Amino acid sequence: MSFNLRNRSLLTVQDYTPREFKYLLQLARDLKRAKYARTEKKSLEGKEICLIFEKTSTRTRCSFEVACYDQGANVTYLDPAGSQIGHKESFKDTARVLGRLYDAIEYRGSAQGGVEQLAKYAGVPVYNGLTDEYHPTQMIADVMTMREHSDKPISEIKYAYVGDTRSNMGHSLLIVGCLLGMDVRICGPKSLWPSDEYTKIAKDLAAKSGARVTITDDTAVAVKDVDFIHTDVWVSMGEPKEVWKERIKLLTPYQVNAALMKASGNSQVKFMHCLPAFHDTETVLGKQIAQDYGMSNGLEVTNDVFESEANVAFEQAENRMHTIKALLVATLGD
Ligand code: CP
Ligand code: NVA
Repeated sequence: MSFNLRNRSLLTVQDYTPREFKYLLQLARDLKRAKYARTEKKSLEGKEICLIFEKTSTRTRCSFEVACYDQGANVTYLDPAGSQIGHKESFKDTARVLGRLYDAIEYRGSAQGGVEQLAKYAGVPVYNGLTDEYHPTQMIADVMTMREHSDKPISEIKYAYVGDTRSNMGHSLLIVGCLLGMDVRICGPKSLWPSDEYTKIAKDLAAKSGARVTITDDTAVAVKDVDFIHTDVWVSMGEPKEVWKERIKLLTPYQVNAALMKASGNSQVKFMHCLPAFHDTETVLGKQIAQDYGMSNGLEVTNDVFESEANVAFEQAENRMHTIKALLVATLGD
């Protein structure tokens, strides 16, 4: 290999080159097969990993924990109220403490600047487990899942992301496909488009990789002939609940429903979502929003699409663990 991921952090989607990213995909596939075949070897024995979650999580936390246990590493989980970070102690000071105790740190929180400070001062690899700006570990799982559900080479895969396009998931899906030379369609109302900063990053990457990138407010243009349709929640963690009203008004035309799936013209089109998803009224918030706004058949995705065979979001969720394991093994493994 002409590259080396050892002791590298992962802070943004574009931190790694296309070859490095594809290497992680291959390693994740190998680790997934080894786990299924019960032949997995441990390469993280004796490693200590700190998991800092300033926002809640199911998939990311459990993926880091299971990946660490499978590979022989130990974890410390710090919950949103369980440390001094940010409240009583700066990111810089926290980094200088934790870097002495741990071999690597995962951080989920709001500001991208926070995870970057941790990486700057910890002296050990830092992994971004989601910020307001990026969700890079999710991207490795998303591309792995698309590859598993397509016979095409990565560069020929076409996908759309429909909804709130200036969120962590919007930015990340815009950029990852441009990094890897894919056909990327980003679709939502103009007022929720990614800022020029993210568009420039994506277009510069596309110029090198040969990616085709479309940012549009027209769902028909976005989904035509695609292999995958992604969406995400309309209001992300950390946003005030008052924004729901406006978001629902703006984004209801961008709901992933049976008509949108059909508009792809691809009977095999798959639905993807990083999860958690509002597709029914079986959650406290889902029920409340449904009542308040009369949305009884889901928000960003309708229940019929979510419960259909087109939905590969649960495989996507499983792949979080295999891909996070690949990241840990590649950056820290023996
Ligand atoms: N997709 C994802 O990051 O899920 P969690 O918020 O449950 O970690
Ligand atoms: N955009 C969502 C992603 C959750 C995994 C959020 O930030 O809440």
